[in-house]
Amino acid sequence: MCGIVGYIGTQPAVPIILEGLKRLEYRGYDSAGLAVCCGDNQLQVRRAQGKLRNLEKAIQLNPAEGFYGIGHTRWATHGRPTEENAHPHRDCKGDIVVVHNGIVENYLSLKQQLQAEGHVFQTETDTEVIAHLVEKHFQGNLEEAVRATVKELTGVFAMAVISRSDQSKIVAARSGPPVVIGLGDQEFFVASDVTAILAHTQDMLFLDDGEMAILTPTGAQLCDFDGRQVSRQVSRILWNPIEVEKGGYQHFMLKEICEQPRAVRDTTLGRVGLDTGRIFLNEMDIAPAEFSQFRQVRIIACGTSWHAALAGKFMIERLARVPVEVDYSSEFRYRDPIVSEHTLTVVISQSGETADTLAAQREAKQKGSKTLAICNVAGSMITREAAGTIYTHAGPEIGVASTKAFTCQLTALFILAMRLGQANHSLDESTSRCLMQELLGIPGKLEEVLSNDAVYEALARRLHHFRNALFLGRGIHYPIALEGALKLKEISYIHAEGYPAGEMKHGPNALIDENLPVVVLATRDPASSESRVLYEKTLSNIQEVKARDGLVIAVVTEGDDDARKIADHVIEIPRTSELLAPILEIVPLQLMASYRRAPRLRRGSAAQSRQKCDGRVTARAPV
Ligand code: F6R
Repeated sequence: MCGIVGYIGTQPAVPIILEGLKRLEYRGYDSAGLAVCCGDNQLQVRRAQGKLRNLEKAIQLNPAEGFYGIGHTRWATHGRPTEENAHPHRDCKGDIVVVHNGIVENYLSLKQQLQAEGHVFQTETDTEVIAHLVEKHFQGNLEEAVRATVKELTGVFAMAVISRSDQSKIVAARSGPPVVIGLGDQEFFVASDVTAILAHTQDMLFLDDGEMAILTPTGAQLCDFDGRQVSRQVSRILWNPIEVEKGGYQHFMLKEICEQPRAVRDTTLGRVGLDTGRIFLNEMDIAPAEFSQFRQVRIIACGTSWHAALAGKFMIERLARVPVEVDYSSEFRYRDPIVSEHTLTVVISQSGETADTLAAQREAKQKGSKTLAICNVAGSMITREAAGTIYTHAGPEIGVASTKAFTCQLTALFILAMRLGQANHSLDESTSRCLMQELLGIPGKLEEVLSNDAVYEALARRLHHFRNALFLGRGIHYPIALEGALKLKEISYIHAEGYPAGEMKHGPNALIDENLPVVVLATRDPASSESRVLYEKTLSNIQEVKARDGLVIAVVTEGDDDARKIADHVIEIPRTSELLAPILEIVPLQLMASYRRAPRLRRGSAAQSRQKCDGRVTARAPV
């Protein structure tokens, strides 16, 4: 996972590239580099190992100037994280420089062949073969050389290339990882992610696989790998550029956790009819009547989005009474799955560009299924290939761990479940109205959950010396256990597992002792008999953990004294419908993971950060 950014126009390129790389640093940070060209035939390359500030220091010591250039932030795949292996990579003469995201699978055979032809390699990377191939094919025109090069590569790549011998031109190509072109006023941008260039333009062109872009100071042209011109509608990204700033928060993850009330509200509004309880999903090429025709729903996704999918299964089966299967994209695409025209395939992706999810979506379409995307990025590949999209209006998600996109995905799935239920007549008007009222109350309840952040910070401190953690849940709360564990692993580097609480007695109880903290999702919805049964069973699971001296942190519904009596610590969340509780339950787990990460990040509280940003004080006294 690397980041690419490039600029061509009338302004000095270096500050623009560095600023773009800062926005992408979450994608890779073991080294960074850039190359810029100025009018007098000078191609200047600066690179540094480690974080981006090392590159900034290198440029302060040895400035570089130019009106176009390309930059890269690296997360090593081939070759150690050293300065030599940092991008951009050069050809033999240093005339051609390349930045690349992806993996060139046939790089070894290409390298041997190029070496036999006399090319001299400087690095251990797969990317360097691209520079030498472009050199080999270069006959005065950079795009033609890049076109000949991409035809020799197998694997996945997004790349940007400049040359001293064909000046004032950036050539970009895509086969796999995303490439977006930004259109400014006499200036043009290329990036691996819209957030890198959003401060400069909201008008973007997304490249498809097998396409190239040629940027000059006067325009951006798209063509395919055979040189045929491509026309593409401009996507206007309606995110506010301010949203890609940290805005007084210590880090993006914390900011994005705190934005959840607004994000969930934006994902809900405009889709709900308050008087009738009806759901409106007008953004799609699926006729209203078609919603009652589906005999099966299949949801495919990766990572956090897959956890949302698992929770979505409970929502859709409960409200629409349609069977739901959930698949990992990376499994679905390779196993000749059974889907038909009676299957609605829902693909969930924050970015809309995850390769496995895109491939799985294509597989489902090819087998005759309609695909509906739940996605956060307008114009992204998955949305372009879907019959319709329910956009999650989370705003840009820059933090490496997905947070606000997850709660918005849960919200979108709840809306879809209601829509399917209404189409099937399995959801009557009065129940719809009640559920909608509950949904509209969620942003306010999220504010309440966030306001207790001092509790989560104290618990994160309590967890500080443990090396393992277990998360338990039943029913719709089990996916939240998985997601809580993923956040802790990803952010705190603690080994954590999510497990279905009812399965503990079939073996894993043997692991529990005083060295294993166990986070148990034990909320209840008194209005639901299923929820009451699950709650009772979960209390028994807490007893089992206590009997083995495990430390229990229980996430419970406010006013629950039964769980409080047996758990070591409780986190209370406001009362809500069982199907919506996951949106609230995950927030303390996100914050605990974020506060457990490092003391530096734990100093200011979420509430303080929020106060700095929007001037409101919502914190309660620490408990
Ligand atoms: C975890 C995380 C990842 C993503 C996964 C899918 O915090 O961010 O697990 O959820 O890579 O990404 P999208 O949703 O963009 O397809």
